[in-house]
Amino acid sequence: MCVAILDSDTAIVSILSEIVHDLGQTPSPYHDKDRFLGAIDPASHNVAIISDDFIDVIEGTKQVYQSIEIVAIGTGEGSRCIKAGATHYLKKPFCAQDIQQVLGILMKKPAPGRAHRDESFIAVDPSMEKILEIISKVSPTQAPVLIQGESGTGKEIIARSIHSLSRRKDGPYVGINLAAIPESLLESELFGYEKGAFTGAYATRIGKFELAHGGTILLDEVTEVSLGLQAKLLRVLQEKQIDRVGGKASISVDFRVIATTNRDIEEDIQAGRFRHDLFFRLNVIPIKVPPLRCRRDDILPLAEHFIHKVAQREGIPEKTLAKDAQNSLLKYAWPGNVRELENVVERAMILCDEAMITSEDLIFGMGSPTPAARSLPVGTTIHEMEKGLIVSTLSSVDGNRTKAASLLGISIRTLRNKLNEYSQNSQFSDTTQGKKTQEFSG
Ligand SMILES: Nc1ncnc2c1ncn2[C@@H]1O[C@H](COP(=O)(O)OP(=O)(O)O)[C@@H](O)[C@H]1O
Ligand SMILES: [Mg+2]
Repeated sequence: MCVAILDSDTAIVSILSEIVHDLGQTPSPYHDKDRFLGAIDPASHNVAIISDDFIDVIEGTKQVYQSIEIVAIGTGEGSRCIKAGATHYLKKPFCAQDIQQVLGILMKKPAPGRAHRDESFIAVDPSMEKILEIISKVSPTQAPVLIQGESGTGKEIIARSIHSLSRRKDGPYVGINLAAIPESLLESELFGYEKGAFTGAYATRIGKFELAHGGTILLDEVTEVSLGLQAKLLRVLQEKQIDRVGGKASISVDFRVIATTNRDIEEDIQAGRFRHDLFFRLNVIPIKVPPLRCRRDDILPLAEHFIHKVAQREGIPEKTLAKDAQNSLLKYAWPGNVRELENVVERAMILCDEAMITSEDLIFGMGSPTPAARSLPVGTTIHEMEKGLIVSTLSSVDGNRTKAASLLGISIRTLRNKLNEYSQNSQFSDTTQGKKTQEFSG
Protein backbone atom coordinates (compact mmCIF):
# COMPACT_ATOMS: atom_id res chain seq x y z
CA MET A 1 0.00 0.00 0.00
CA CYS A 2 1.36 3.40 -0.90
CA VAL A 3 0.34 6.31 1.29
CA ALA A 4 0.58 9.89 0.06
CA ILE A 5 1.02 12.49 2.79
CA LEU A 6 0.33 16.22 2.50
CA ASP A 7 0.93 18.70 5.32
CA SER A 8 2.70 22.05 5.24
CA ASP A 9 4.39 21.13 8.53
CA THR A 10 7.50 19.21 7.45
CA ALA A 11 7.96 17.73 10.94
CA ILE A 12 4.50 16.14 10.76
CA VAL A 13 5.19 14.87 7.26
CA SER A 14 8.36 13.13 8.35
CA ILE A 15 6.79 11.60 11.47
CA LEU A 16 3.87 10.28 9.41
CA SER A 17 6.30 8.90 6.82
CA GLU A 18 8.10 7.00 9.55
CA ILE A 19 4.87 5.54 10.92
CA VAL A 20 3.77 4.45 7.46
CA HIS A 21 7.18 2.97 6.82
CA ASP A 22 7.11 1.08 10.13
CA LEU A 23 3.84 -0.47 9.07
CA GLY A 24 5.65 -1.95 6.09
CA GLN A 25 3.99 0.46 3.64
CA THR A 26 5.48 3.04 1.29
CA PRO A 27 5.07 6.73 2.15
CA SER A 28 5.15 9.47 -0.48
CA PRO A 29 5.58 12.69 1.48
CA TYR A 30 4.66 16.20 0.30
CA HIS A 31 4.44 19.58 1.99
CA ASP A 32 3.61 21.34 -1.23
CA LYS A 33 0.09 21.17 -2.59
CA ASP A 34 1.03 21.44 -6.27
CA ARG A 35 3.63 18.72 -6.01
CA PHE A 36 1.09 16.51 -4.28
CA LEU A 37 -1.53 17.13 -6.96
CA GLY A 38 1.01 16.46 -9.69
CA ALA A 39 1.95 13.11 -8.19
CA ILE A 40 -1.27 11.67 -6.79
CA ASP A 41 -2.85 8.93 -8.84
CA PRO A 42 -4.85 5.86 -7.94
CA ALA A 43 -2.54 3.48 -9.79
CA SER A 44 0.16 4.16 -7.24
CA HIS A 45 -1.66 5.46 -4.14
CA ASN A 46 -4.35 3.73 -2.12
CA VAL A 47 -4.49 6.15 0.78
CA ALA A 48 -3.81 9.86 1.24
CA ILE A 49 -3.29 11.54 4.60
CA ILE A 50 -4.08 15.21 4.07
CA SER A 51 -4.03 18.17 6.44
CA ASP A 52 -7.32 20.02 6.70
CA ASP A 53 -5.49 23.21 5.70
CA PHE A 54 -5.92 21.74 2.23
CA ILE A 55 -9.64 21.08 2.33
CA ASP A 56 -9.85 21.85 -1.41
CA VAL A 57 -7.29 19.12 -2.07
CA ILE A 58 -9.30 16.63 -0.02
CA GLU A 59 -12.40 17.48 -2.00
CA GLY A 60 -10.68 17.46 -5.38
CA THR A 61 -8.82 14.22 -4.77
CA LYS A 62 -11.99 12.42 -3.72
CA GLN A 63 -13.95 13.77 -6.65
CA VAL A 64 -11.37 12.78 -9.22
CA TYR A 65 -10.13 9.54 -7.65
CA GLN A 66 -12.91 7.82 -5.74
CA SER A 67 -10.79 4.79 -4.99
CA ILE A 68 -8.24 6.72 -2.91
CA GLU A 69 -9.15 6.64 0.76
CA ILE A 70 -8.52 9.93 2.47
CA VAL A 71 -7.57 10.39 6.11
CA ALA A 72 -7.84 14.03 7.10
CA ILE A 73 -5.73 15.45 9.92
CA GLY A 74 -5.94 18.84 11.55
CA THR A 75 -7.32 21.07 14.23
CA GLY A 76 -10.54 22.24 12.62
CA GLU A 77 -14.00 20.75 12.21
CA GLY A 78 -13.82 17.03 11.38
CA SER A 79 -17.24 17.04 9.77
CA ARG A 80 -16.04 19.55 7.15
CA CYS A 81 -13.35 17.07 6.06
CA ILE A 82 -15.76 14.16 6.03
CA LYS A 83 -18.16 16.14 3.86
CA ALA A 84 -15.26 16.94 1.56
CA GLY A 85 -14.64 13.22 1.09
CA ALA A 86 -12.37 11.99 3.89
CA THR A 87 -13.37 8.67 5.45
CA HIS A 88 -11.50 9.35 8.68
CA TYR A 89 -10.55 12.46 10.62
CA LEU A 90 -7.78 12.64 13.19
CA LYS A 91 -7.53 15.69 15.38
CA LYS A 92 -4.03 17.02 16.07
CA PRO A 93 -2.19 16.24 18.21
CA PHE A 94 -2.67 12.53 17.60
CA CYS A 95 -0.40 9.70 18.57
CA ALA A 96 1.28 7.13 16.35
CA GLN A 97 -1.21 4.52 17.49
CA ASP A 98 -4.15 6.55 16.15
CA ILE A 99 -2.65 6.61 12.67
CA GLN A 100 -1.70 2.93 12.89
CA GLN A 101 -5.26 2.02 13.83
CA VAL A 102 -6.75 3.94 10.94
CA LEU A 103 -4.26 2.63 8.38
CA GLY A 104 -4.82 -0.85 9.77
CA ILE A 105 -8.53 -0.56 8.99
CA LEU A 106 -7.87 0.76 5.50
CA MET A 107 -5.30 -1.94 4.74
CA LYS A 108 -7.83 -4.65 5.50
CA LYS A 109 -10.35 -3.23 3.03
CA PRO A 110 -10.30 -5.14 -0.26
CA ALA A 111 -9.19 -3.05 -3.22
CA PRO A 112 -12.32 -1.86 -5.02
CA GLY A 113 -13.13 -3.05 -8.48
CA ARG A 114 -10.61 -5.89 -8.53
CA ALA A 115 -13.09 -8.74 -8.53
CA HIS A 116 -15.36 -7.80 -11.37
CA ARG A 117 -18.93 -8.70 -10.53
CA ASP A 118 -21.24 -9.97 -13.20
CA GLU A 119 -24.45 -8.17 -12.45
CA SER A 120 -26.62 -9.76 -15.14
CA PHE A 121 -30.03 -10.59 -13.81
CA ILE A 122 -31.58 -13.72 -15.28
CA ALA A 123 -35.37 -13.90 -15.25
CA VAL A 124 -37.06 -16.20 -17.74
CA ASP A 125 -39.79 -17.88 -15.70
CA PRO A 126 -43.23 -16.25 -16.09
CA SER A 127 -43.39 -15.73 -12.30
CA MET A 128 -40.49 -13.30 -12.63
CA GLU A 129 -42.23 -11.10 -15.19
CA LYS A 130 -44.14 -9.26 -12.52
CA ILE A 131 -40.91 -8.66 -10.62
CA LEU A 132 -39.12 -7.28 -13.68
CA GLU A 133 -42.06 -4.98 -14.23
CA ILE A 134 -41.94 -3.69 -10.64
CA ILE A 135 -38.18 -3.19 -10.86
CA SER A 136 -38.44 -1.06 -13.96
CA LYS A 137 -41.35 0.95 -12.53
CA VAL A 138 -39.89 1.69 -9.12
CA SER A 139 -36.26 2.16 -10.02
CA PRO A 140 -36.56 5.78 -11.18
CA THR A 141 -38.53 6.77 -8.06
CA GLN A 142 -37.32 7.52 -4.55
CA ALA A 143 -39.71 5.05 -2.92
CA PRO A 144 -38.44 2.62 -0.31
CA VAL A 145 -38.53 -1.01 -1.43
CA LEU A 146 -38.87 -4.09 0.75
CA ILE A 147 -37.67 -7.29 -0.90
CA GLN A 148 -38.84 -10.52 0.68
CA GLY A 149 -37.73 -14.01 -0.22
CA GLU A 150 -35.88 -17.07 1.00
CA SER A 151 -32.15 -16.91 1.36
CA GLY A 152 -30.33 -17.11 -1.98
CA THR A 153 -33.29 -16.10 -4.16
CA GLY A 154 -31.55 -13.00 -5.49
CA LYS A 155 -32.72 -10.22 -3.19
CA GLU A 156 -29.38 -8.47 -3.19
CA ILE A 157 -28.96 -8.60 -6.93
CA ILE A 158 -32.46 -7.11 -7.29
CA ALA A 159 -31.53 -4.31 -4.89
CA ARG A 160 -28.44 -3.57 -6.97
CA SER A 161 -30.44 -3.54 -10.19
CA ILE A 162 -32.88 -1.05 -8.70
CA HIS A 163 -30.00 1.20 -7.74
CA SER A 164 -28.28 0.97 -11.08
CA LEU A 165 -31.49 1.78 -12.93
CA SER A 166 -32.23 4.75 -10.70
CA ARG A 167 -31.32 8.40 -10.97
CA ARG A 168 -28.94 7.74 -8.09
CA LYS A 169 -26.88 5.28 -10.12
CA ASP A 170 -23.79 7.48 -10.08
CA GLY A 171 -24.12 7.91 -6.34
CA PRO A 172 -22.92 5.33 -3.84
CA TYR A 173 -24.58 1.97 -3.26
CA VAL A 174 -23.95 0.94 0.31
CA GLY A 175 -25.06 -2.40 1.67
CA ILE A 176 -25.04 -3.55 5.26
CA ASN A 177 -26.00 -7.02 6.41
CA LEU A 178 -27.74 -6.43 9.71
CA ALA A 179 -27.63 -10.11 10.64
CA ALA A 180 -23.87 -10.36 10.22
CA ILE A 181 -22.84 -7.60 12.59
CA PRO A 182 -23.07 -7.92 16.37
CA GLU A 183 -25.78 -5.71 17.84
CA SER A 184 -23.23 -3.82 19.93
CA LEU A 185 -21.42 -2.61 16.80
CA LEU A 186 -24.44 -1.99 14.61
CA GLU A 187 -25.23 1.50 15.78
CA SER A 188 -21.76 2.82 15.07
CA GLU A 189 -21.62 0.96 11.76
CA LEU A 190 -24.89 2.53 10.68
CA PHE A 191 -24.52 6.02 12.09
CA GLY A 192 -20.75 6.43 12.57
CA TYR A 193 -19.03 7.85 15.60
CA GLU A 194 -16.96 10.78 16.76
CA LYS A 195 -13.40 10.30 17.89
CA GLY A 196 -13.36 9.49 21.58
CA ALA A 197 -17.05 8.46 21.70
CA PHE A 198 -15.93 5.19 23.29
CA THR A 199 -12.73 3.27 23.96
CA GLY A 200 -11.28 2.37 20.60
CA ALA A 201 -12.87 5.28 18.74
CA TYR A 202 -9.49 6.51 17.57
CA ALA A 203 -10.82 8.64 14.79
CA THR A 204 -14.09 10.06 13.60
CA ARG A 205 -15.74 7.47 11.42
CA ILE A 206 -18.68 7.92 9.18
CA GLY A 207 -21.42 5.34 9.15
CA LYS A 208 -23.23 3.59 6.32
CA PHE A 209 -26.06 6.11 6.10
CA GLU A 210 -23.63 8.97 5.60
CA LEU A 211 -21.64 6.90 3.12
CA ALA A 212 -24.85 6.38 1.16
CA HIS A 213 -25.43 10.14 0.83
CA GLY A 214 -26.68 10.82 -2.68
CA GLY A 215 -27.18 7.12 -3.34
CA THR A 216 -28.89 4.00 -2.05
CA ILE A 217 -28.55 2.10 1.21
CA LEU A 218 -29.43 -1.58 1.39
CA LEU A 219 -30.52 -2.76 4.82
CA ASP A 220 -30.01 -6.45 4.30
CA GLU A 221 -31.94 -8.77 6.65
CA VAL A 222 -33.62 -5.87 8.37
CA THR A 223 -35.75 -8.11 10.58
CA GLU A 224 -32.65 -9.11 12.53
CA VAL A 225 -32.25 -5.86 14.46
CA SER A 226 -33.43 -5.27 18.02
CA LEU A 227 -36.50 -3.21 18.80
CA GLY A 228 -34.25 -0.49 20.21
CA LEU A 229 -32.37 -0.09 16.97
CA GLN A 230 -35.60 -0.36 14.99
CA ALA A 231 -36.77 2.81 16.76
CA LYS A 232 -33.58 4.58 15.70
CA LEU A 233 -33.92 3.36 12.12
CA LEU A 234 -37.47 4.64 12.04
CA ARG A 235 -36.34 8.10 13.09
CA VAL A 236 -33.62 8.14 10.43
CA LEU A 237 -36.09 7.12 7.73
CA GLN A 238 -38.63 9.71 8.84
CA GLU A 239 -36.30 12.63 9.34
CA LYS A 240 -33.44 11.76 6.99
CA GLN A 241 -31.08 12.80 9.73
CA ILE A 242 -28.56 10.75 11.62
CA ASP A 243 -26.71 11.18 14.89
CA ARG A 244 -23.18 9.88 15.02
CA VAL A 245 -22.43 8.04 18.26
CA GLY A 246 -20.93 10.67 20.59
CA GLY A 247 -21.89 13.43 18.13
CA LYS A 248 -23.43 16.71 19.18
CA ALA A 249 -25.55 17.65 16.17
CA SER A 250 -27.73 15.71 13.74
CA ILE A 251 -26.51 15.44 10.17
CA SER A 252 -28.85 15.52 7.18
CA VAL A 253 -28.42 12.71 4.72
CA ASP A 254 -30.04 12.04 1.38
CA PHE A 255 -30.51 8.35 0.63
CA ARG A 256 -32.95 5.89 -0.81
CA VAL A 257 -33.59 2.82 1.30
CA ILE A 258 -34.01 -0.74 0.13
CA ALA A 259 -34.50 -3.45 2.75
CA THR A 260 -34.56 -7.22 2.50
CA THR A 261 -35.69 -10.03 4.72
CA ASN A 262 -35.80 -13.79 4.41
CA ARG A 263 -38.28 -14.13 7.26
CA ASP A 264 -42.03 -13.87 7.35
CA ILE A 265 -42.14 -10.24 8.39
CA GLU A 266 -45.88 -10.24 9.04
CA GLU A 267 -45.34 -13.01 11.56
CA ASP A 268 -42.57 -10.98 13.22
CA ILE A 269 -44.93 -8.04 13.51
CA GLN A 270 -47.67 -10.23 15.04
CA ALA A 271 -45.18 -11.57 17.54
CA GLY A 272 -44.07 -8.06 18.48
CA ARG A 273 -40.55 -8.62 17.16
CA PHE A 274 -40.80 -6.05 14.41
CA ARG A 275 -42.24 -2.55 14.61
CA HIS A 276 -45.39 -2.00 12.63
CA ASP A 277 -44.54 1.60 11.83
CA LEU A 278 -41.08 0.68 10.56
CA PHE A 279 -42.64 -1.98 8.35
CA PHE A 280 -44.93 0.63 6.79
CA ARG A 281 -42.00 2.96 6.18
CA LEU A 282 -40.04 0.23 4.42
CA ASN A 283 -42.82 -1.59 2.65
CA VAL A 284 -43.89 1.20 0.31
CA ILE A 285 -43.04 -1.04 -2.65
CA PRO A 286 -43.09 -4.74 -1.73
CA ILE A 287 -41.29 -7.28 -3.90
CA LYS A 288 -41.73 -10.96 -3.12
CA VAL A 289 -39.15 -13.15 -4.82
CA PRO A 290 -40.34 -16.73 -5.32
CA PRO A 291 -38.02 -19.60 -4.32
CA LEU A 292 -36.19 -21.27 -7.20
CA ARG A 293 -38.28 -24.47 -6.90
CA CYS A 294 -41.31 -22.36 -7.87
CA ARG A 295 -39.71 -20.97 -11.02
CA ARG A 296 -38.23 -23.95 -12.78
CA ASP A 297 -37.91 -22.17 -16.13
CA ASP A 298 -35.11 -20.11 -14.60
CA ILE A 299 -32.98 -23.11 -13.60
CA LEU A 300 -31.24 -23.91 -16.89
CA PRO A 301 -30.75 -20.31 -18.03
CA LEU A 302 -29.23 -19.56 -14.61
CA ALA A 303 -27.00 -22.64 -14.82
CA GLU A 304 -25.73 -21.52 -18.22
CA HIS A 305 -25.18 -18.03 -16.92
CA PHE A 306 -23.04 -19.40 -14.07
CA ILE A 307 -21.07 -21.66 -16.44
CA HIS A 308 -20.23 -18.57 -18.46
CA LYS A 309 -19.40 -16.57 -15.32
CA VAL A 310 -17.02 -19.22 -13.92
CA ALA A 311 -15.36 -19.75 -17.32
CA GLN A 312 -14.68 -16.02 -17.61
CA ARG A 313 -13.43 -15.70 -14.07
CA GLU A 314 -11.15 -18.74 -14.17
CA GLY A 315 -10.09 -18.31 -17.78
CA ILE A 316 -11.26 -21.84 -18.63
CA PRO A 317 -13.38 -23.01 -21.57
CA GLU A 318 -17.15 -23.10 -21.14
CA LYS A 319 -18.76 -26.53 -20.75
CA THR A 320 -22.12 -27.82 -21.86
CA LEU A 321 -24.73 -29.51 -19.71
CA ALA A 322 -25.52 -33.12 -20.68
CA LYS A 323 -29.20 -34.05 -20.83
CA ASP A 324 -29.01 -36.09 -17.61
CA ALA A 325 -27.35 -33.16 -15.84
CA GLN A 326 -30.13 -30.86 -17.02
CA ASN A 327 -32.70 -33.30 -15.70
CA SER A 328 -31.00 -33.51 -12.32
CA LEU A 329 -30.89 -29.73 -12.05
CA LEU A 330 -34.57 -29.49 -12.95
CA LYS A 331 -35.61 -32.20 -10.49
CA TYR A 332 -33.72 -30.93 -7.45
CA ALA A 333 -35.62 -28.90 -4.82
CA TRP A 334 -32.98 -26.14 -4.35
CA PRO A 335 -33.40 -25.37 -0.64
CA GLY A 336 -30.51 -22.91 -0.98
CA ASN A 337 -32.08 -21.36 -4.10
CA VAL A 338 -30.00 -19.57 -6.74
CA ARG A 339 -26.97 -19.35 -4.47
CA GLU A 340 -26.93 -23.13 -4.17
CA LEU A 341 -27.33 -23.54 -7.93
CA GLU A 342 -24.39 -21.21 -8.42
CA ASN A 343 -22.29 -23.33 -6.05
CA VAL A 344 -23.28 -26.60 -7.71
CA VAL A 345 -22.39 -25.27 -11.16
CA GLU A 346 -19.16 -23.72 -9.96
CA ARG A 347 -18.07 -26.99 -8.36
CA ALA A 348 -18.93 -28.93 -11.51
CA MET A 349 -16.99 -26.49 -13.67
CA ILE A 350 -13.89 -26.90 -11.52
CA LEU A 351 -14.10 -30.62 -10.83
CA CYS A 352 -15.21 -31.91 -14.21
CA ASP A 353 -12.32 -32.53 -16.62
CA GLU A 354 -14.50 -33.13 -19.69
CA ALA A 355 -16.15 -30.60 -21.99
CA MET A 356 -19.57 -31.84 -20.92
CA ILE A 357 -20.97 -31.74 -17.40
CA THR A 358 -22.88 -34.92 -16.57
CA SER A 359 -25.12 -35.61 -13.59
CA GLU A 360 -22.19 -37.31 -11.89
CA ASP A 361 -20.38 -33.99 -11.73
CA LEU A 362 -23.23 -32.39 -9.84
CA ILE A 363 -22.92 -32.54 -6.08
CA PHE A 364 -26.04 -31.31 -4.35
CA GLY A 365 -26.74 -30.28 -0.81
CA MET A 366 -23.40 -28.79 0.18
CA GLY A 367 -24.65 -25.21 0.33
CA SER A 368 -27.27 -25.91 2.95
CA PRO A 369 -26.99 -27.88 6.16
CA THR A 370 -26.82 -31.55 5.19
CA PRO A 371 -28.76 -34.11 7.21
CA ALA A 372 -25.45 -35.33 8.60
CA ALA A 373 -24.45 -31.87 9.76
CA ARG A 374 -27.84 -31.25 11.33
CA SER A 375 -27.70 -34.44 13.36
CA LEU A 376 -24.32 -33.71 14.95
CA PRO A 377 -24.62 -34.49 18.65
CA VAL A 378 -24.62 -31.58 21.09
CA GLY A 379 -21.21 -31.43 22.65
CA THR A 380 -19.42 -31.76 19.33
CA THR A 381 -16.79 -29.05 19.13
CA ILE A 382 -16.32 -26.89 16.04
CA HIS A 383 -12.88 -28.43 15.71
CA GLU A 384 -14.32 -31.96 15.68
CA MET A 385 -17.00 -30.96 13.21
CA GLU A 386 -14.44 -29.37 10.90
CA LYS A 387 -12.18 -32.38 11.07
CA GLY A 388 -15.11 -34.71 10.37
CA LEU A 389 -16.18 -32.68 7.37
CA ILE A 390 -12.66 -32.56 5.96
CA VAL A 391 -12.18 -36.30 6.38
CA SER A 392 -15.51 -37.19 4.78
CA THR A 393 -14.98 -34.75 1.91
CA LEU A 394 -11.55 -36.22 1.22
CA SER A 395 -12.93 -39.73 1.21
CA SER A 396 -15.72 -38.72 -1.18
CA VAL A 397 -13.13 -37.56 -3.75
CA ASP A 398 -10.79 -40.53 -3.21
CA GLY A 399 -8.27 -38.47 -1.29
CA ASN A 400 -7.75 -35.91 -4.07
CA ARG A 401 -6.69 -32.84 -2.08
CA THR A 402 -7.23 -30.35 -4.90
CA LYS A 403 -10.81 -31.45 -5.35
CA ALA A 404 -11.43 -31.63 -1.60
CA ALA A 405 -10.09 -28.10 -1.06
CA SER A 406 -12.30 -26.81 -3.85
CA LEU A 407 -15.37 -28.53 -2.40
CA LEU A 408 -14.60 -27.19 1.06
CA GLY A 409 -14.01 -23.70 -0.29
CA ILE A 410 -10.53 -23.46 1.24
CA SER A 411 -7.05 -23.24 -0.28
CA ILE A 412 -4.97 -26.36 -0.75
CA ARG A 413 -2.45 -24.88 1.64
CA THR A 414 -5.06 -24.47 4.37
CA LEU A 415 -6.18 -28.03 3.81
CA ARG A 416 -2.62 -29.30 4.01
CA ASN A 417 -1.99 -27.35 7.23
CA LYS A 418 -5.13 -28.74 8.81
CA LEU A 419 -4.23 -32.31 7.86
CA ASN A 420 -0.74 -31.82 9.30
CA GLU A 421 -2.29 -30.49 12.47
CA TYR A 422 -4.60 -33.52 12.75
CA SER A 423 -1.85 -36.00 12.13
CA GLN A 424 0.33 -34.34 14.77
CA ASN A 425 -2.48 -34.24 17.32
CA SER A 426 -3.51 -37.80 16.67
CA GLN A 427 -0.24 -39.00 18.19
CA PHE A 428 -1.57 -37.79 21.54
CA SER A 429 -5.30 -38.26 21.25
CA ASP A 430 -7.25 -41.32 22.25
CA THR A 431 -9.43 -43.41 20.00
CA THR A 432 -12.72 -41.62 20.74
CA GLN A 433 -11.66 -38.82 18.39
CA GLY A 434 -11.25 -41.33 15.59
CA LYS A 435 -14.62 -42.88 16.35
CA LYS A 436 -16.44 -39.56 16.16
CA THR A 437 -14.80 -38.80 12.83
CA GLN A 438 -16.00 -42.11 11.49
CA GLU A 439 -19.54 -41.28 12.50
CA PHE A 440 -19.45 -38.01 10.58
CA SER A 441 -18.15 -39.52 7.43
CA GLY A 442 -20.61 -42.36 7.49
N1 LIG B 1 -31.78 -13.87 -11.20
C1 LIG B 1 -30.48 -14.00 -11.04
N2 LIG B 1 -29.63 -13.88 -12.09
C2 LIG B 1 -28.30 -14.02 -11.93
N3 LIG B 1 -27.72 -14.30 -10.76
C3 LIG B 1 -28.50 -14.43 -9.67
C4 LIG B 1 -29.92 -14.29 -9.76
N4 LIG B 1 -30.44 -14.47 -8.53
C5 LIG B 1 -29.42 -14.71 -7.71
N5 LIG B 1 -28.24 -14.68 -8.37
C6 LIG B 1 -26.91 -14.93 -7.80
O1 LIG B 1 -27.08 -15.86 -6.74
C7 LIG B 1 -26.34 -15.49 -5.59
C8 LIG B 1 -27.29 -15.24 -4.43
O2 LIG B 1 -28.08 -14.12 -4.71
P1 LIG B 1 -28.35 -12.98 -3.61
O3 LIG B 1 -28.89 -11.80 -4.34
O4 LIG B 1 -27.14 -12.75 -2.77
O5 LIG B 1 -29.48 -13.70 -2.75
P2 LIG B 1 -30.18 -13.26 -1.40
O6 LIG B 1 -29.77 -11.85 -1.11
O7 LIG B 1 -31.63 -13.40 -1.65
O8 LIG B 1 -29.69 -14.23 -0.36
C9 LIG B 1 -25.55 -14.25 -5.99
O9 LIG B 1 -24.26 -14.63 -6.39
C10 LIG B 1 -26.34 -13.69 -7.15
O10 LIG B 1 -25.49 -12.97 -8.02
MG1 LIG C 1 -28.61 -11.59 0.78
